[in-house]
Amino acid sequence: MSAEATLKNPYSLSKEQIPPTIVEQIDAVERANLTKKIKAQLKQQNAVVVAHYYTEPDLQILADETGGYVSDSLDMARFGHESEAETLVVCGVKFMGETAKILNPEKRILMPDLNANCSLDLGCPEDKFSAFCDAHPDHVVVVYANTSAAVKARADWMVTSGSAVDVVKQLASEGKKIIWAPDKYLGDYVQQETGADMLIWQGACIVHEEFKAQELETLRSHHPEAKVLVHPESPAAVIAQADLVGSTTAIIKAVTEMDATKFIVATDKGIFHKMQQAAPEKILIEAPTAGKSATCISCAHCPWMAMNGLRKLSKVLETGKNEIFVEVEIARRAKQSIQRLLDFTSNKSATSMANDA
Ligand code: 13P
Ligand code: SF4
Repeated sequence: MSAEATLKNPYSLSKEQIPPTIVEQIDAVERANLTKKIKAQLKQQNAVVVAHYYTEPDLQILADETGGYVSDSLDMARFGHESEAETLVVCGVKFMGETAKILNPEKRILMPDLNANCSLDLGCPEDKFSAFCDAHPDHVVVVYANTSAAVKARADWMVTSGSAVDVVKQLASEGKKIIWAPDKYLGDYVQQETGADMLIWQGACIVHEEFKAQELETLRSHHPEAKVLVHPESPAAVIAQADLVGSTTAIIKAVTEMDATKFIVATDKGIFHKMQQAAPEKILIEAPTAGKSATCISCAHCPWMAMNGLRKLSKVLETGKNEIFVEVEIARRAKQSIQRLLDFTSNKSATSMANDA
């Protein structure tokens, strides 16, 4: 590891930047009425819903029933790019809407709530990040998808949790030194898996950072037969206890494919909807977020993902407000770092298909 592998915290989030997690509360009648109305609006506007696994089940069900898509951040980008719809309604957080716009400048991209951000994006302001990159010009800049369009524009590569290890491994094999931003836990994990020479920005996901290693150990002792599934935005001591570390898609796949009936899951609890759908016979347990003397802030549910709901979705389709725009030059440069990943992942899957044949 480089002697400078970690930075002094260049930027930290204030408490005021983190909203409370407030999930939309609606009864069965309103749910049915809104769903019916939104289905008609989507059809009339040639629009589809592209939702992240962490959003409310109501939105995921609606996306599935109307030719939309529910997935992780990488596949949301891919689907939006391939879809023939004129409007994509991105139910997730801001960087997902921006990525959709960058890849599809001709499409209208709407989001139910423009305040839906991400602590990783907020914790990596472009001016500070750019100054840091300028100070290390001999490094390749690799940023996580959870960043603003402006930060992606400053990067050489964008990666997602499902692709970070493979991309960095490739760069390290070419002898490249790497600037990694913004998630420090994912950065440490990637560094450990690849042995790459990395300078790591000290951002964190406020949801995954709350998973507690000691309490997880205790929980595991009560369920020794359970497999532990962990998203790599979690702290190292939590990752160390995992049977599988992976993206949201990998975690869902593990529940269906692993030879176990019980799973402890360290990621946003929104994922339980798809997991239960995929494997209704399996027992799913939330990993602990609060220690003996601690209280959780997000309690394993992202406050920004929770800003998406049926009421706001219907409203945005009615008014056409909350459209996402990305400045042309920023979009042009950000697209290069995103496209590198899309090309890398499609080459990789073509190679593994050829090897399997
Ligand atoms: P995935 O790319 O695994 O869906 O993760 C996105 C995210 O925001 C996790 O907190
Ligand atoms: Fe960002 Fe964490 Fe929310 Fe994912 S769960 S969008 S990383 S704050």
